[in-house]
Amino acid sequence: MPQTLSRVLVLSGPNLNLLGTREPAIYGATDLRTIEADLAALGVELDAHVECRQSNHEGQLVDWIQEARDGWDGIVLNAGGYTHTSVAIRDAITACGRPCVEVHLSNVHAREPFRHRSRLAAVCVGVVVGFGPRSYALGLRGLIDYLRHPRGSV
Ligand code: DQA
Repeated sequence: MPQTLSRVLVLSGPNLNLLGTREPAIYGATDLRTIEADLAALGVELDAHVECRQSNHEGQLVDWIQEARDGWDGIVLNAGGYTHTSVAIRDAITACGRPCVEVHLSNVHAREPFRHRSRLAAVCVGVVVGFGPRSYALGLRGLIDYLRHPRGSV
């Protein structure tokens, strides 16, 4: 039986537009455009329509997460620094009712203590940290697997 096409929003938050030049020792040398192109190609491979967006603004991220209610199956989210602070983004994730996977390029648990806490992780279906740019691809694979085998069905 053919798979149904999954529709996934990939959202990146503040300062991730600077990937490639921003603290390469921590985040690597790959820019966001390259990561997003790789995700689109992976989407084709996985029978998913993938749309990537980036904003430095909390309210814009909230708007996009709300939009996921209409016609999107799930979200891969790197909320950057807002991960550690944003009640508004957490509330948007629960309000939208779509599964969300939190991703980080760096291993936030091996960094400063303020990065150890995520306000979002508890309302996400899973979290991927520490695999550099590949964290996004792993998060996308995990989300699509979750969409096709929701918890309790496996
Ligand atoms: C990050 C980790 C955050 O703590 C940081 O504020 C970022 C990037 C990551 O992908 O490793 O902006 O989300």
